[in-house]
Amino acid sequence: MTLVAWAEKAVVSATLASTNSRCEAGTKFQQRRQGVETHICGTPHFWCAPCTTRLQASNGNMTMNTAPPDTRNALRPSLPATTRRYLVQWIAAAALCCAVAGSVSATAPSPIIIQFSHVVKPDTAKGKAALRFKQLAESRTGGKVRVEVYPDSQLYKDREELDALRLGAVQMLATSLSKLAGLGGDDFLAFDLPFLFPDRAAYRAAVDGPLGVSLLKKLEPRGIKGLAFWDNGFKVFTANRPLQGVADFKGLKIRVQASKVLVAQMRALGSQESVSPLIDVRADLTSGKLDGQENTPTNIYTQGLHDVQSHLTVSNHGYLAYAVIVNKAFWEKLPAELRAILEGALRDATTFENSIAEADHHKALDRLKASGKLTLHTLTPHEAAQWRNAMAPVYQEARNWISAETLAALPVLPGAPP
Ligand code: SIN
Repeated sequence: MTLVAWAEKAVVSATLASTNSRCEAGTKFQQRRQGVETHICGTPHFWCAPCTTRLQASNGNMTMNTAPPDTRNALRPSLPATTRRYLVQWIAAAALCCAVAGSVSATAPSPIIIQFSHVVKPDTAKGKAALRFKQLAESRTGGKVRVEVYPDSQLYKDREELDALRLGAVQMLATSLSKLAGLGGDDFLAFDLPFLFPDRAAYRAAVDGPLGVSLLKKLEPRGIKGLAFWDNGFKVFTANRPLQGVADFKGLKIRVQASKVLVAQMRALGSQESVSPLIDVRADLTSGKLDGQENTPTNIYTQGLHDVQSHLTVSNHGYLAYAVIVNKAFWEKLPAELRAILEGALRDATTFENSIAEADHHKALDRLKASGKLTLHTLTPHEAAQWRNAMAPVYQEARNWISAETLAALPVLPGAPP
């Protein structure tokens, strides 16, 4: 193959790779429509103008295999002819330089890149553990692997990141268990059942045992491999009015994550649910589109939700936890010795995450109190009993989605009807 023909091929591959990830300006696919991806920057075809500067696929996994076959040819004419000619010349020249340089000294192979996306702030247990994994993975592989951590929905919002993982546009996520139901893992909805876990130990017993293993396995037919569970903690509610009795929920629009159980929970309390990405919650509370929301103290504090809400109820009515998941094809294609090192790095990052989550939870609650912006109320036993009764029908409804096998494996079902 001549140098120019090779450079031609490189341009096409780079085009394909960029199509499946994001362009230089940080834009990314929004939806698939008849094989056409609409970029957020608004260009409704395969090649988005800012991408023309991006020659390098950031990861081998994001190449032709993830682009639908019927779209491949559509990519070719999408580069303007002059740009294409310029790129080919540029790559050919660059390759020539490399070849010359290579005769003097061999070039180091480029590292394998793992793009790790998540939707919370870096200053949370999950955010810190993602960085710990990066540090351990990079140092233990001697730079053969580079982990790029994208926190705070920088790359993708809640639902998008799951699609991005399946398509191979990112390789790793730590997503909440609630959101995994959308990936064919309806049994993960069990973790959203209200008042299911009396304490952290009960939650840990559920994920650390055979149930955790079998749930992660259920993701594999969807091209996802589950590697670990990461902790966050118990959720509380915030609103611009006190939430003590069940009647206080009536008529409020409350944000929950995309989970059928959480939607049922809000309806059982007499509220209207609103499912939206975490990154939008603060703005929606500010504008009045939402009246309240449920989350953990760490997420509430780090997202600044206390700035736009007046009341917080320490209800501990639900649990927020994560699964660390990877694109299965990417993971299995890694050289075995690197994969083993990465698994070790993830094990250590997991131990770290699970060891700091509880302390972070209490610290965040203290900070929320100290902020003076919210009035805090802790549910009394009487109020908690009233909430449980109101939410009990959720258990019945959940039997439509969660397998009997998973329900039977859970340690306690306190709110469940007999
Ligand atoms: C997360 O903690 O990753 C997200 C939780 C949420 O969407 O509320």
